[in-house]
Amino acid sequence: MSDTLWWQHGTIYQIYPRSFQDSNGDGIGDLEGIRQRLPYLTWLGVDAVWISPFYPSPMADFGYDVADYCDVDPIFGTLEDFDRLSTDIHAAGMKLVLDFVPNHTSNRHPWFQESRISRDSAKRDWYIWRDPAPDGGPPNNWISNFGGSAWQFDEATGQYYYHAFLKEQPDLNWRNPEVRWAMHDALRFWLDRGVDGFRVDVIWHLIKDQELRDNPINPAYEPHQRELNRLLEVHSCDQPEVHEVIAEMRAVLEEYDDRVLIGEIYLPIERLMAYYGSDLKGAHLPFNFQLLQSAWDARHIDSLIQEYETALPEGGWPNWVLGNHDQARIADRLGPDQARVAAMLLLTLRGTPTLYYGDEIGMVQVPIPPERVQDPWEKNEPGLGFNRDPARTPMQWDDSDRVGFSNAEPWLPVDHREPTRNVAAQKQDRSSLLCLYKQLLELRRQRKALSVGRYRPVTAEGDILAFRREHEGESILIVLNLGSAAHRLMLDEGTRGRVVLSCLGRKAGEEISGALEISANEGLIVDLTN
Ligand code: GLC
Repeated sequence: MSDTLWWQHGTIYQIYPRSFQDSNGDGIGDLEGIRQRLPYLTWLGVDAVWISPFYPSPMADFGYDVADYCDVDPIFGTLEDFDRLSTDIHAAGMKLVLDFVPNHTSNRHPWFQESRISRDSAKRDWYIWRDPAPDGGPPNNWISNFGGSAWQFDEATGQYYYHAFLKEQPDLNWRNPEVRWAMHDALRFWLDRGVDGFRVDVIWHLIKDQELRDNPINPAYEPHQRELNRLLEVHSCDQPEVHEVIAEMRAVLEEYDDRVLIGEIYLPIERLMAYYGSDLKGAHLPFNFQLLQSAWDARHIDSLIQEYETALPEGGWPNWVLGNHDQARIADRLGPDQARVAAMLLLTLRGTPTLYYGDEIGMVQVPIPPERVQDPWEKNEPGLGFNRDPARTPMQWDDSDRVGFSNAEPWLPVDHREPTRNVAAQKQDRSSLLCLYKQLLELRRQRKALSVGRYRPVTAEGDILAFRREHEGESILIVLNLGSAAHRLMLDEGTRGRVVLSCLGRKAGEEISGALEISANEGLIVDLTN
């Protein structure tokens, strides 16, 4: 694999550290817990681990409110635990990606504490402070991502500060070079400790309109939508100057060998592409969330794959995401049958796959009783279906009372409803979703066509999605049935091959030519190499 880099041919596995493994009996996962579970990740066959934030934090947004960029919150352990984890991840041949949250700090971060003291504080301009509007209200109409005004009035100095998320998460002023330098130092702190890269939180938010102009009204807004959608985010994010900031971050990573910069970006494909940067000096991987946001429809997905492939800048490396800590579980959205097809799609598409912990065993949305709600978004905009807790529950290791996650009551409810929806049970069953993931990951490692090969669309109709992956002499056909009725796909004349893997257990080695009968909910990988 030496002609591609690890973050190109490898698979990334996201861990939400509060919910992976508790090692100290407080009901919350920790770094030592992750370390103890590394043999599982090695067995599964992923190449890199991305860990959501574990920095010191008041946990208003569960770690996405950072109070110190260069330490570990005691809930998760210590810097020594981090070093031990990092050493073991590397010893297992895996890479370690951290979550970097540069857009905002916690309101308890010493920088903000200093900034808010007075209008002449040395750190005043590290955040975004403005006088009230003439009527005393907020300086502009911007809305927080979690609902309500994005401006908070601060009595001490009689000004408002801007927060794109919670009021406990004041936005940094990235137009200020001192902020940039301080954040670059935070990156170097972890790079020096050996981390292999960063997933950068809300990277498209870093720069706001210089004049903080009002956002225009969204004429398509509907009342069941989040409040944020009342306006079009024309001035509050995705500003041209953000690319310079990202290029500077990238330059910091380039001081080291072989590191990766991944950007969290929720934008349509045509705007997403700018985040590769001019001369590809932006993010290596601007996250591609198309599969999370699109209807599960073969024709639609087929066209978005082609749109994405066509839009990529020359040399820009693709990537695909099937789940994360902000979205509903994929197995819940699609049901158990299509969750298998989705696994096959994620791991056969061209581009780096990112897998969210628990999706490999088909974890679903876990009901959260009102008194156990944790997510601040749900607390701000209740009952509209925005709660992220159901997708953040403890990893289901076995069918014991606390699913092998902890020996205390976990911070979120555990899911017991299905006796085989756990690692222990599925490891024993070769037909399980977990074993399918393992086989797919193995195949992706064995077959260069799958990990780094070209993508070639294949014409299909109805619920069938088909494409080829090709590398040197290798050619692999992928045929996925996104529907619940059997179909027939007519292969081009002369096309013959052998089944390598079916997500429904069809025998490997079966010969394929002419008319390919594909069962309901079936996904097939066929080797066309002569
Ligand atoms: C990102 C994170 C999300 C967090 C938000 C604010 O979208 O993924 O979990 O709430 O940023 O930091």
